[in-house]
Amino acid sequence: PASCRLEEEGHRFDCYPERHVVVTQELCESRGCCFIESPPPTGGKRGVPWCFYPPDFPSYTLESLNQTALGMVGLLVRREKAYYPRDIKVLRLDVEFETDTRLHVKITDAASPRYEVPLEVPRVMKRAENPIYSLDFSWDPFGLLLRRRATGTVLLNTTVAPLIFADQFLQIATSLPSRFLYGLGEHRGSLLHSLDWNTLTLWARDVPPTESFNLYGAHPFYLLMEEGGDAHGVFLLNSNAMEVALQPAPGLTWRTIGGVLDFYIFLGPDPNMVIQQYQQVIGFPAMPPLWALGFHLCRWGYESSNETWQTVRAMRNYQIPQDAQWNDIDYMDGYRDFTFDPHNFASLPSLVEDLHKHGQHYVMILDPGISRTSPNGSYWPFDEALRRGLFLNTTKGQPLIGQVWPGLTAFADFSNPDTHQWWLENLQRFHARVPFDGLWIDMNEPSNFMDGSEEGCPPGELDSPPYTPAVLGDSLSAKTVCASAKQKASVHYNLHNLYGLMEAKATASALIQIRGKRPLVISRSTFPSQGRYSGHWLGDNRSQWKDMYYSIPGLLSFSLFGIPLIGADICGFSGSTSEELCTRWMQLGAFYPFARNHNTQNEKAQDPTVFSPAARTAMKDVLLIRYSLLPFLYTLFHRAHLHGDTVARPLFFEFPRDVATLGLDRQFLWGRSLLVTPVLEPEVDSVTGYLPRGVWYDFYTGSSVNSSGEMLKMSAPLEHLNLHVREGAILPTQKPGTTSKATQGNPLRLIVALSSSGTAWGDLFWDDGESLDTFERGSYSYLVFNVTQNIFTSTVLHASTEATEVTINTLSIFGVREPPSKVLLNGQEKPFSYLDNQVLTVGDLGLSLSQGFSLQWL
Ligand code: GLC
Repeated sequence: PASCRLEEEGHRFDCYPERHVVVTQELCESRGCCFIESPPPTGGKRGVPWCFYPPDFPSYTLESLNQTALGMVGLLVRREKAYYPRDIKVLRLDVEFETDTRLHVKITDAASPRYEVPLEVPRVMKRAENPIYSLDFSWDPFGLLLRRRATGTVLLNTTVAPLIFADQFLQIATSLPSRFLYGLGEHRGSLLHSLDWNTLTLWARDVPPTESFNLYGAHPFYLLMEEGGDAHGVFLLNSNAMEVALQPAPGLTWRTIGGVLDFYIFLGPDPNMVIQQYQQVIGFPAMPPLWALGFHLCRWGYESSNETWQTVRAMRNYQIPQDAQWNDIDYMDGYRDFTFDPHNFASLPSLVEDLHKHGQHYVMILDPGISRTSPNGSYWPFDEALRRGLFLNTTKGQPLIGQVWPGLTAFADFSNPDTHQWWLENLQRFHARVPFDGLWIDMNEPSNFMDGSEEGCPPGELDSPPYTPAVLGDSLSAKTVCASAKQKASVHYNLHNLYGLMEAKATASALIQIRGKRPLVISRSTFPSQGRYSGHWLGDNRSQWKDMYYSIPGLLSFSLFGIPLIGADICGFSGSTSEELCTRWMQLGAFYPFARNHNTQNEKAQDPTVFSPAARTAMKDVLLIRYSLLPFLYTLFHRAHLHGDTVARPLFFEFPRDVATLGLDRQFLWGRSLLVTPVLEPEVDSVTGYLPRGVWYDFYTGSSVNSSGEMLKMSAPLEHLNLHVREGAILPTQKPGTTSKATQGNPLRLIVALSSSGTAWGDLFWDDGESLDTFERGSYSYLVFNVTQNIFTSTVLHASTEATEVTINTLSIFGVREPPSKVLLNGQEKPFSYLDNQVLTVGDLGLSLSQGFSLQWL
């Protein structure tokens, strides 16, 4: 085309994203695009697009724009076809100024309804009065320009490339105000994405996590840090297969193959606020039971319930904390859900009973593929689902048959409410025999050992769409069911990425109905709003140092996605771990919000009891540290549930103006104030970590470091995990027991880390640890702790009966510069100790949690 200019390379927007096509000038020009060959990058990656849009490539024109109660409505018209079939010529644009920090922009077919994600989103009644953003329009070609009012920063400019809205190809691109982009899961990689022609695909897929592959979950949400430390987030509420192409301009292109373009933009301006605002749309995470925050032990390959039991006994024998024992598919009879092996797992009910007696819990795996190979009338789950019509069907209306662990299977359709009832009935029947406490839902991408089905997939535009995003296996049906499969709510093409979410919803609800307590569900596949129903683990990692590192960006990304209950298989799933790796990994894993050691079959055991006394002790010690911090961790989860705060948190969330933190993903924080600096390499006895500007206290000793914002070499012998407390924090801790239940009654110790001006703040949420809706019902305690001018105050903002049974026994105050002459508790003198490293300790307080108090040092 005549208008082809030599755009700067980083600004070329790809007009030919098809893979496995050698883009020639002819092909490119047939689309009306500009062709310039560039040297291909090394390593088989895609680089600068050879075929890119000219500035006058036909797009939509904004024909009208009218005010509505909440914003505006406009009509977009395309006069010339683009190059994919079935362009939608007239689009409706809905803009809603939902809140001062949230904008909602939706582009749909003006004439007929299209598939939309069945997610409940908030309904706004009133237009935002003082939005901190402004929105301008380009009329021809149509484009959106979003600015942050305070700084004038352009957050979105969609005029950089044409809008395409065909039935099965929807594309919109934007410039970005910086290169600091996070989110867009599920992927393995660093926390901060590279914008060097990096394409991220979102299509739920069962595969051991590998860089650049689409993985188990789909999270079309990004967070971007602007120059100066402000942050915003963008959520595309769309569940179709999609890819997001990042380029150095910096720019970003959303390409999805169905649904509508439904965007929410969150203006922060602080990253913590962006994530809260995101969760105001997708829902806040469930409050987990306290026991979910204990240590979990699992493996694939316990050959019997007795072998499982032996491990539990060995853990008890060494007094290593453990809250839950898990079983993988080994427990099942022929790998069929809702059965257990009558020979090797005959003692399973007794094992579960024994766990309960010891204040421990039992969790087992379930897979959504239901075996269809049992003789008619012998396997109720299949027979009944068939009778009730609850499976995914082929286009011909027969249950789609694939293959998972039990052999040939049909797949439960969780988009059908009747399936939830059937799932519940199955779980009730099984629970009557094996009274499990939590559920692990695996293989729910859904995974299929066959591509599509036993018959493959039928020809047609769902299984062979005009454009297939860069999915692993190059086909939508690779290792899953056919996209054309019929489900109650829509075709699998639309619902695929929601499978894990819908199963989690059914599972959490069943657990609540069966146990009447807060559920624990851990799901492999996830979608936005998953946190309301389940946590997640990062899938089939390997017992390698690299995988251990990747778990940190993994968990931090899931914090951004509103799924705080997140962890990776500690010590690694596949491959053989080593004692050193496993020790370091247990130390890191003790700080995963969800801490589970899990192993594949045919590998040697890797639970803490099998290692040398030194390694075992190091593992036990760090678990005891975790258990001592349960009150703090639990309070963080409560804040996540209530406000959408993150639990495991990237450093830049707390220090957004410190650019040195923007790329840090080898360290992380719990909440605002506890910094974890794990060793991620073999054969070292020190670790270098960043300490943002300010005073940091060693968690164990209370000694302080005053950092100017620097990398610091810390001593890290094998038995030591570096933990630092940020100045100004108060952490509630507790004398640890070997279960969370045993810990729960123990006296508390508050760690007070004074700021350089002598202040500190902290809080504590407390309830019985498992009842439903304790906050909503008011059955909880909430305390706020404060220090100013040498006076510590505990204020009880809400008290419940449980709280009277627990005492605050010790205050350890870090950073008391002068030795006090006396300490007064509610005005009465109290003995104390003071150490040279400026730590003041006052013990034997014996104060009930339900009473406020003050403590002064003079
Ligand atoms: C999948 C899971 C893994 C589990 C295995 C056997 O690979 O991701 O955790 O152990 O299946 O059920």
